[in-house]
Amino acid sequence: MTFSQQQTLSREPRRLLVTGGAGFIGSNFVHHWCKQYPGDRVVVLDALTYAGNRNNLTYVEGRENLRFVHGDICDRPLIDTLLGEEMIDTVAHFAAESHVDRSILGPDAFIRTNVVGTFTLLEAFRHHWKRQGQPTSNNPSGDGSTYRFLHVSTDEVYGSLGPDDPPFTETTPYAPNSPYSASKAGSDHLARAYYETYGLPTIITNCSNNYGPYHFPEKLIPLMCINILLGKSLPVYGDGQNVRDWLYVGDHCGALDVVIHRGQPGGTYNIGGNNEVKNINLVHTLCELMNELAPHLSVRPSQKLITFVKDRPGHDRRYAIDATKIQAELGWTPAETLEGGLRQTLEWYLTHRDWWQPLLSEEYQAYYRQVYA
Ligand code: NAD
Ligand code: TYD
Repeated sequence: MTFSQQQTLSREPRRLLVTGGAGFIGSNFVHHWCKQYPGDRVVVLDALTYAGNRNNLTYVEGRENLRFVHGDICDRPLIDTLLGEEMIDTVAHFAAESHVDRSILGPDAFIRTNVVGTFTLLEAFRHHWKRQGQPTSNNPSGDGSTYRFLHVSTDEVYGSLGPDDPPFTETTPYAPNSPYSASKAGSDHLARAYYETYGLPTIITNCSNNYGPYHFPEKLIPLMCINILLGKSLPVYGDGQNVRDWLYVGDHCGALDVVIHRGQPGGTYNIGGNNEVKNINLVHTLCELMNELAPHLSVRPSQKLITFVKDRPGHDRRYAIDATKIQAELGWTPAETLEGGLRQTLEWYLTHRDWWQPLLSEEYQAYYRQVYA
């Protein structure tokens, strides 16, 4: 029996607010949650920026227990209303501006959503928790012990590693290098401070690079996958020797499930895939898999499309995660191998052209020209 199945048997239903639930990881998380815990209430709040997509939720749309709200995490009155009327006990906070390259082009939105938006949510949840989650004369049964604020963050807050440095642990000092990672670091500090100062049951997770279905086309893996299918060049930044640790998004969602149910309030958990790979090697693997899986490629072998382009400013050299704590404390380890996860992902992109084709809009092309000109 899986952890989730055991949970289903022994738990009270939860009422979740999932911010950013129409984005890549958020929508995978909503799928996971609706499947594992069909009796739970799930309220998705998403501003539907360029990265948000209602089609990411097609498979769960129409469920009685799911509500989609188009709105902004900076909108305090809206958050107050949702927390109160939906009697939310669990916030799973994914909403963010999430792309390093976009943060270099324009950091403003990153500060607004990642820092101010997270602050707005924390502050609203604190008041809600005080009102609803504590026993008072008006609400004698109030019990905030199951309340949780899960703040989903990134390993990028720890900065860059040298080739022989040990992987990031939960006590590695923060040293963010991009406007994106700096804004996430700011939001992590706020989540931590709300536990230390107010006792708000926040939990922070810092995970490595995710990949899988519903990943917006401008991130490395979907971009390479789609460009191979379109016969377009595969732009590798700098010398291609930068290292990332890759985590299958389904594994990430399983880890977040365990953290919500059994993580220590005030705690931090690193989540990784045990898959450190140099970018250039990853791109070669994607080409090999695509040569095998896609019968009608216009350029074959697709490795011919690899092109080295100007490096990203402040490009972190290496990320690596030490996930010992979540394994030892909560018994979680990733199940997917990199090859297995990549195969599933590529097959998904091959069979979901109707999902990604409309995303290659004029706005996407303008972004593409700006970054790769
Ligand atoms: P994403 O960019 O695919 O999705 C972000 C979602 O947030 C979108 O649906 C967008 O519409 C929504 N959003 C943006 N601003 C909003 C606002 N002001 N109000 C409400 N909704 C808003 O991001 P993702 O890759 O799914 O990442 C989710 C979270 O996980 C982020 O916090 C990110 O920092 C973190 N993370 C991502 C990765 C990764 O590899 N993708 C790795 C580590 C951590
Ligand atoms: P990305 O998916 O943007 O994630 P992050 O920057 O958060 O790690 O990029 C992953 C790695 O791939 C990163 O080292 C930058 C590199 N990269 C390229 O070489 N070419 C590209 O076109 C993109 C988008 C990324």
